[in-house]
This record gives sequence, structure tokens and C-alpha cells, in this order.
Amino acid sequence: MSQIRIGIAGLGIVGAETARQIISSQDILSRRAGKNLKIIAVSARHKAKDRGFPLDDIVFYTDPLKLLDHDDIDVIIELIGGEGGVALSLCQKALQAGKHIITANKAMIAHHGFSLSKLAEDNNVTLQFEAAVAGGIPAIKILREGLAGNQIETVAGILNGTCNYILSEMTSSNSAFLDVLKEAQHKGFAEADPSFDIDGVDAAHKLAILSTIAFEQKIEFSSLSISGIRNVSDIDINYAAKLGYCLKLLGIAQRGGPAEVTMALISDDEQLALVNGALNAVSYSGAPVQSSICIGPGAGAGPTSSAVLADLIDISRGLANYPYGSPVDLLSEQKLASQTSKEQCYYLRIAVTDKPGVLSQISAVLRDHGLSIASMIQNGQSEEGPVFLVLTTHKCAKIDIEQAAEVIGNTDHVLDSPMVIPIFDKGFFS
Ligand SMILES: NC(=O)c1ccc[n+]([C@@H]2O[C@H](COP(=O)([O-])OP(=O)(O)OC[C@H]3O[C@@H](n4cnc5c(N)ncnc54)[C@H](OP(=O)(O)O)[C@@H]3O)[C@@H](O)[C@H]2O)c1
Repeated sequence: MSQIRIGIAGLGIVGAETARQIISSQDILSRRAGKNLKIIAVSARHKAKDRGFPLDDIVFYTDPLKLLDHDDIDVIIELIGGEGGVALSLCQKALQAGKHIITANKAMIAHHGFSLSKLAEDNNVTLQFEAAVAGGIPAIKILREGLAGNQIETVAGILNGTCNYILSEMTSSNSAFLDVLKEAQHKGFAEADPSFDIDGVDAAHKLAILSTIAFEQKIEFSSLSISGIRNVSDIDINYAAKLGYCLKLLGIAQRGGPAEVTMALISDDEQLALVNGALNAVSYSGAPVQSSICIGPGAGAGPTSSAVLADLIDISRGLANYPYGSPVDLLSEQKLASQTSKEQCYYLRIAVTDKPGVLSQISAVLRDHGLSIASMIQNGQSEEGPVFLVLTTHKCAKIDIEQAAEVIGNTDHVLDSPMVIPIFDKGFFS
């Protein structure tokens, strides 16, 4: 059997597990790849660190660019991370040098995927990044190969396990955001600096990649509307439950429509609502498939290396597709409608002091912005603390609800900026 010769840059959580799998499952993986998998060289910052596999026959570099000096390497697996820097320069140079690239680096692909993909085409090699989106779910393969015969209209999903874990824990244990975040950090579900996750950026990287493949349009990362869960409160989770909804952070993109990462209220009986803990889910709808959903672990050493190995086997077999399903020049320019004109129902929570006339003031603001109320909950009376008014609206434009919320936030006896969350009613995802 001939060989496929591998260089691995980055031996952290994903890189070390990928190397361990290649070594420990050598026979079965080589059989599936049709070639013997052989790690020629690896790179990481610290040589002395134990990576859980023997380095005896493997060349080690602290500079990942040294992997490029190896004419005997066919494929470089980039598992360093970071949008630019050494990861990007390694991938660019490797593709130019005629080496295949596999990466799990969603930040780099969301920002530089089109140019890297073009570079791969020009140099007759492949770029694969299945591990960049929801590792344990073959989310890209499902879309690009399994659903290749469809006109996909909507792709939506729970794309960040950390946020899903936090929201699920807040829901099941009635706990506050910061307490659950600390616990998630302690258990290793959240980074010491969790901002990329909780501010929605990580989910947006994945949504940009998925929506480009789904709609065959170059969806620019900068065009996405991104908000996270930093301001989430257990109060909203409790009110959502009273209204028959659960609160999730979703990435949602519609063909010709906006692409956004947002907290969302979804019906309790929606399949996505049942996806809890650190799990991810991706739901696709279009014709003729109607709708399809896939659920699985989105991160961690095992699920992410599983996706890397699938790319490696595809490359070995000569089965690797264009990363976005077609040559980059055939992807059309982005056609996304503006966020602000999109119409849907909203949840609005307003903290007020319990004074006569507050409700009529708020109603007047809503009326002036053309918004009509679908339902309202007002909690008991309180002389000291805030009283919450929770409203759901009929369908309205995002710009109208946002402007109304701003005016309400500045109204007498309103204590804070209102919490505004879009509602995705049953049927949206199917
Ligand atoms: N972790 C996950 O669950 C997950 C899931 C999906 C995608 N990803 C993506 O996979 C990639 C790797 O993630 P990870 O969690 O495995 O990261 P990690 O644990 O931080 O590992 C990064 C590796 O890169 C090496 N490295 C960092 N900077 C370097 C530099 N300047 N020069 C040479 N080597 C350098 C580190 O060396 P040392 O070990 O010597 O410090 C380490 O081995 C990222 O793009 C990430 O977004 C990760």
C-alpha cells in the first residue's frame, strides 16, 4: 500500500488526539484511507510536553513553518488556531507548495476561507475543514454531499456547546448566568476567557461557513448580525417557560435573508429545544428534503479529531470535494436582505417601578411604533423592587421593536433597557 505522509501543526487538545488516533488506529484508518497513514513531522511550542504518543520516529519542530521544508509531506493538518498569524501563513504557504490542508480553524476559515480555497484550486490540492463546524456532527458533509440535490432555504442550529450548556443549566437548575459560567469553566466546558463563545462570535464563524455552502454565496463574516448570551437572565428563562418557550442561542441563515446569531425563544416541543447540555444541532430545510436535523457533540478532542480523520481519509482516497461544494469563482456574491426589515414576533421584558400609568405609557410607545401586543404577563405588586412586564408582540420589523425598546428604556419609571428576544414559532425550522 502506498503512503499518505502527514505533518501536524499544533499538538493541543485536538492535535494530540488526532495524532494518537492515527497511531493507535493505524490499521483500520489506513484500510479506509486506501493508503498507509504516516506522521512524518509535528510542531508545537513545547517539545518536552507529554502528548500521549511516542515522538521517536517523528520529527519535532517548534516552528510550524518548518513543516514546509519537507518534500515528503503530502498533507498538513493545521490545529494551532487563530484567525491569522502563523496558522494562516502556514496554510497559505502549504497550499502554494502543493500540500493538502486540513484544519479545524473556524476563525481562519470564516475570515479567509475564500482566498484559501482559491489557492487550493490554483495549486491543484484540497482544503478541508469539516472539524471547523460542530466536530461530532458531519455538518458540512451532510450539507455539501448528503443534501447536494437540494435547494436549501434555511440553515439553523445550536452551534456553540458552551452557550448551550450554560442556558440548559440555567434552565434546569434555576441558576444565575455568572454562577453557571463559573461552573462551566471549572468543568472545562468554557474557556478562561469565554468571550468568543458567550458573545456569539464562535457560533457566527460556523454560521458563515455553513451558510456559504448552503446558499452557494460568499457570506462575509462581517455581514452577520451577532449577539450572544452575556446579558441573559434566569428571569427571562423562567418567563419563556411560562409562555411555552425555551431560550437558546441560535445561528440562523435564510436564503436571500439575513444571517444572525441571536438568543431566540423556540417552542418547547421544537426538536432544537430538546438539545441540551454541551450538544450541538444543525437543522437544514429546503426542497425536496423538507427538513432534517442532526445532533451531536460539537467540540472536544474526540468529536473534533473524528472530523479531522474523516477529511484525511477523503483526501487519501481522492474523494475530497471543493470545500464550499463548488469552485470559489462559481459562488455568487452575497445576497442577504437587511436584518432590520425582517418581520417576526418578539418577547419584551421591561423592569418598571410599580406606579400608576406606566403600562399606558409603554402601550403608547408600542402603538406609536406600529407594534401590537399578542400577550402580556405582569408579576405581582412591589413597593420596593422592580415589577416585570413581559409582552409578546405580533409580527413586526426588527427596527421597529428596537426603536420602541430604546424609547421605553428612557421612559419614567422604567428601570433598565428592555430585554428584546426574537421568537421563532413552531414550523420555522421545518
Ligand atoms: N478544542 C476544541 O474542542 C475545538 C473544537 C473545534 C475546533 N477547534 C479548533 O482547533 C484548533 C486547535 O484547537 P485546540 O483546542 O486543540 O487548541 P490548543 O489546545 O490551544 O492547542 C494549540 C496547539 O498549537 C500550538 N501552538 C500555539 N501557538 C503556536 C505557535 N505560535 N507556534 C507553534 N505552535 C503553536 C500549541 O503548542 P503547545 O502545546 O506547545 O503550547 C498547541 O499544541 C483551533 O483552531 C480551534 O478553534 C478546537
